[in-house]
Amino acid sequence: MLSARLLQAMNEQIAKEWFSAGIYKSMEAYFQSEDLLGFANWMKVQAQEELVHGERFFRFVASVGDRVRILKIDEPKSDFTSPLDAISYGLSHEKVVTASINNLMKIAKEDGNHAAEIMLQWFITEQVEEEANFGLLLRKCKMVEGDGRGLLVLDQELATRVFAPPADMVI
Ligand SMILES: [Fe+2]
Ligand SMILES: [Fe+2]
Repeated sequence: MLSARLLQAMNEQIAKEWFSAGIYKSMEAYFQSEDLLGFANWMKVQAQEELVHGERFFRFVASVGDRVRILKIDEPKSDFTSPLDAISYGLSHEKVVTASINNLMKIAKEDGNHAAEIMLQWFITEQVEEEANFGLLLRKCKMVEGDGRGLLVLDQELATRVFAPPADMVI
């Protein structure tokens, strides 16, 4: 069982992960409307990963004998003005999520909940990768700013991303 505050924070984290999925579906729709189907594909995969992140918390809470509460999920931003604007928002969002994961780890440590700490270690590592992915993509968007051909090359690269569902986490 989790402490009341750790359970509450994990319930909130599930909503944050699914909110993240909503943001990336919103970006997928934006890129589709701009005919940037590679960017749209990259965001589709990103959203699938976020759903699995939520599922990881969902299953962990159940596995320690607690019950998940599904909380309100906010409407995601949709007024993106350029690829650079969208990706830069994505990076800032991931930084907020990293802070949230770090806070969960802090609570788990204060609680002396080693099982939660081990579970959260996966997310600590994952957030390093998330920020690195968005950071690299942001720098590439800056490189091709105002260069239509460069943007189409980048779009083709992003079309190759595929979702690899973890074997233990099929949803
Ligand atoms: Fe996530
Ligand atoms: Fe993420």
